[in-house]
Amino acid sequence: MTDILILTGAGISAESGLGTFRDKDGLWTRYDLNEVATPEGFSRNPALVHDFYNARRANCLAAAPNPAHDALARLQSRHAGRVTLVTQNVDDLHERGGARDVLHMHGALSGALCHDCGARWPAPAVMDPLSPCPDCHRPTTRPDIVWFGEMPYHMEAIQDALLRADLFVAIGTSGNVYPAAGFVSEARAAGIATLELNLEPSDTVGQFDTVRTGPASQIVPDWVEEVLTS
Ligand code: OAD
Repeated sequence: MTDILILTGAGISAESGLGTFRDKDGLWTRYDLNEVATPEGFSRNPALVHDFYNARRANCLAAAPNPAHDALARLQSRHAGRVTLVTQNVDDLHERGGARDVLHMHGALSGALCHDCGARWPAPAVMDPLSPCPDCHRPTTRPDIVWFGEMPYHMEAIQDALLRADLFVAIGTSGNVYPAAGFVSEARAAGIATLELNLEPSDTVGQFDTVRTGPASQIVPDWVEEVLTS
């Protein structure tokens, strides 16, 4: 019985119509990440940052899970070992595909956070920088997204699951952003088998034991089927 830790990135949601960050025409070719994905950018221009994430939230609401999200949910419910699903994605397509207990290390578009008092509540479809926090009533609301320079969420739970796992699988992530990009080397150091599933080899491809390339909607269901029938 193998315990599996899966890390997903923007590539798993690409075929659902959500843009990736670093591919040709990716979000970071059209937006300056320093302006829309840092606490400093938010202090300079909260309206711009809210506009950026309001557009992401609208895209997410209009999108649907694809066969890769569905396959991972199937794996979670049918595999005899533990399947921990960690995502860098702020969309909810894993959950809408049926996955449980997804660890959103970079936060979620569905959440709102008070920059001042730390209160959390469900985000409305359109967030407004002037709308007050329901707890402290100050106009200091932000999307509950982890920005560059901030500490990702659930790191302790992820580290525990990583060190307990027999297999680490990275799906649709370019291996550019730490700490997630470092999970493969931590897994290797702990003697855990590693597999990359990606459209093209990522920047950390050399660190994986096994690599399979192709669109997530095909290679993820194929791999899941193999695991469930092995
Ligand atoms: P990237 O945009 O950096 O990488 C997307 C990866 O998905 C690339 O390796 C592509 O080859 C792959 N890909 C594209 N289409 C695919 C498909 N159909 N099937 C399989 N793979 C495909 O996105 P991430 O690695 O997720 O953080 O980016 C990591 C973090 O950087 C994000 O969470 C975000 C971003 O800045 C923050 O905003 C804090």
